Amino acid sequence: MKTLLVYYSYTGNTKMVAEHLQSKLNCDILRLEPQTPYSDDYNSVVSQGQEEVNSGFTPKLQNLDVNLDDYDIVILGSPIWWYTFSPVMRSFLTFNNLNDKKIYAFFTNGGYGLGHSLSDLNEFGLEVTDYLEVPFEGKEMQMSYQEIDDFASKIK
Ligand SMILES: Cc1cc2nc3c(=O)[nH]c(=O)nc-3n(C[C@H](O)[C@H](O)[C@H](O)COP(=O)(O)O)c2cc1C
Repeated sequence: MKTLLVYYSYTGNTKMVAEHLQSKLNCDILRLEPQTPYSDDYNSVVSQGQEEVNSGFTPKLQNLDVNLDDYDIVILGSPIWWYTFSPVMRSFLTFNNLNDKKIYAFFTNGGYGLGHSLSDLNEFGLEVTDYLEVPFEGKEMQMSYQEIDDFASKIK
């Protein structure tokens, strides 16, 4: 079974968790990037993100450097934006078919839970085998690395 971890991260929290998981699993990793970068001004991105989530906007992504056919397991990692996964992840799911993959997911957030991210994944026909919610307070992860390792050990 070959595994790909696909993630988006705006401020680096999801990147940190993604890289930790990748080092545990020794899997391939792909960072999604929008063609038009988000502003460095956090507050303006919070409002822009709200509009994008509400309208179901799918930003254009930079070219993916992988062939998804090579993978059996895909781990999705995204920050929660306005109670669901980020628009960048929505774009990835919209323009790629993962229906024949075993799907795992992890979501970082600012402490307000997963919102409707799991049911939004169902919209794409995806059933998540297992998922992890990783709360942060700013840059501080509110969870132990052991819990991330425990999640990693379930991915197979
Ligand atoms: C546009 C935007 C919307 C957000 N909405 C939520 C939310 O609905 N619930 C929540 O708990 N955190 C929310 N957050 C906080 C992020 O989910 C949290 O800081 C996350 O760990 C950031 O991940 P990143 O550093 O990988 O971008 C939001 C952040 C941004 C920028």
